[in-house]
Amino acid sequence: MIKKSIEKALNEQINAELYSSYLYLSMSSYFHSVNLPGFANWMRTQALEELVHADKLYNFVIERGGRVILASIDAPPKEWNAPLDAFEGVYKHEQKVTSLINNLVDLAIKENDHATNIFLQWFVTEQVEEEASADEVVQKLKLTGGQGNSLFMLDKELSQRVFTPPATKAGE
Ligand code: FEO
Repeated sequence: MIKKSIEKALNEQINAELYSSYLYLSMSSYFHSVNLPGFANWMRTQALEELVHADKLYNFVIERGGRVILASIDAPPKEWNAPLDAFEGVYKHEQKVTSLINNLVDLAIKENDHATNIFLQWFVTEQVEEEASADEVVQKLKLTGGQGNSLFMLDKELSQRVFTPPATKAGE
């Protein structure tokens, strides 16, 4: 049986992942509004990945005999000044999520909850990738100036990103 402190913290992380999905979906909508469908695709794919993260946590809480309590999700911002502004926002947000995951690991260790600690290692690794992929786009936008033809080329590149659903069905 899961400890109450762990259950509460994992529930908060479910909310944080759902907020991440909301944030990136809002960014996707912004990119559509400024006619950058490739950037919008990247964000929408990211939004779907965040739902997978939330689902992983949901499943783990249930599997451990806990209760998932869903809380309200904050409204995300809806406007950004430029593509770079949005992507710097992604990078900053992912750094924040990394610190949330690290705090969760610290709590699992403190509570001697080895199962939760092992489960969270997937998220620790995932966050390395999450930060790196956001920073990659930030650096490309900075390097090219993020305007004109280079912006068009980058939009084309980001249109290639594909969402790959997990190989398991829900609840596994
Ligand atoms: Fe679920 Fe982007 O971290």
